[in-house]
Amino acid sequence: MDWGMKNRMSRIFKPDDGHTVMLAVDHGYFLGPVSRLEKPAETIEPLIPLVDSLMLTRGLLRNCINPKYNIPVVLRVSGGNSIIGGALSNEGITVSMQDALRLNVSAVALSIYVGTDHQHQTLINLANLINAAEDYGIPVLAVTAVGKELEKRDARYLSLSCRIAAELGARIVKTYYCEDFEKVIESCPVPVVIAGGPKMKSELDVLEIAYNAMARGAKGVDMGRNIWQSEWPQAMASAISSIVHKKASVKQAVDLFNSLKNRGR
Ligand code: 5RP
Repeated sequence: MDWGMKNRMSRIFKPDDGHTVMLAVDHGYFLGPVSRLEKPAETIEPLIPLVDSLMLTRGLLRNCINPKYNIPVVLRVSGGNSIIGGALSNEGITVSMQDALRLNVSAVALSIYVGTDHQHQTLINLANLINAAEDYGIPVLAVTAVGKELEKRDARYLSLSCRIAAELGARIVKTYYCEDFEKVIESCPVPVVIAGGPKMKSELDVLEIAYNAMARGAKGVDMGRNIWQSEWPQAMASAISSIVHKKASVKQAVDLFNSLKNRGR
C-alpha cells in the first residue's frame, strides 16, 4: 500500500485498535429528506465529535458541513435512482475522481447489487471506480446493497456479495449483520463494517447487533438511522463507540446510553 492509501485508511480505522465508527448520512441520495435528516446540519453537527468519519454525498458535504471540521469523509459516489422510481439497483457513478480529490476525501463509496438485473452494471461500476481511485491512493468502500429486499440479509448472500466486492479490489466492505456473521467475515479478506438498516425497535437491539458484529470480527460500524433517528442520537453514538473502541459489553453500553440520555445528551 502506498503512503496516501495507508494514511487514508488510518484516518478511517483508528490506529490504536483498527476500528471505526462511521456515521452514514448519505440516505438522501435516493430517499430525499428522510425523517430526522430534513435539516442535515442540525442533525449531523452535534454528532461529529462522537464519530470517526462521515459517509455522505458531495451535495451535503459542500452545503451542510463546515470545512473547519477535521473529520474524514467517505464520499458516496453512486446513485441515479429514487425510492419512487424504478429499480433501486439501477445505479451509476455520480462523482468524478477529480471532484472527490477536490473534496479531500478519505474514501469513496459505491453500492453493488448482486443477484439483481443490475448486478453486472453495478459490479463494473465498482471495478471502474477502483481503477480510477487506486491511481490516487483513495480506498473504495463497496456497499453490499439489498434495496427493498431486506430478507436477502443472510450469510450466504452477504458472503457472496462481500467476497465479490473484495475480489474486485474494494479496500473496505460494508454489509449487514446476520446470523452466522462469522462466515461473512472469514471469507472476506478486507475490513468489514456493518450498516444498521431501518430503525430497530429499541436501542438495546442496535447495541446488541454492534456488539455481536464486533465480537465476530467486524472492524466497525457505518450506521445511520439507528443513530440519528433515535430520540437521543448523541447517547447512541457514544454507546456504539464504546462497543467499537472501548470493548464495552452490551450492558456497559446500555448503562452509558441511559446515563447520557438522562443528562439530556
Ligand atoms: C444506503 C447506505 C446507508 O449509508 C446505509 O444503509 C447505512 O445506513 P443505515 O444504518 O441507516 O442503514 O449505504 O445505501
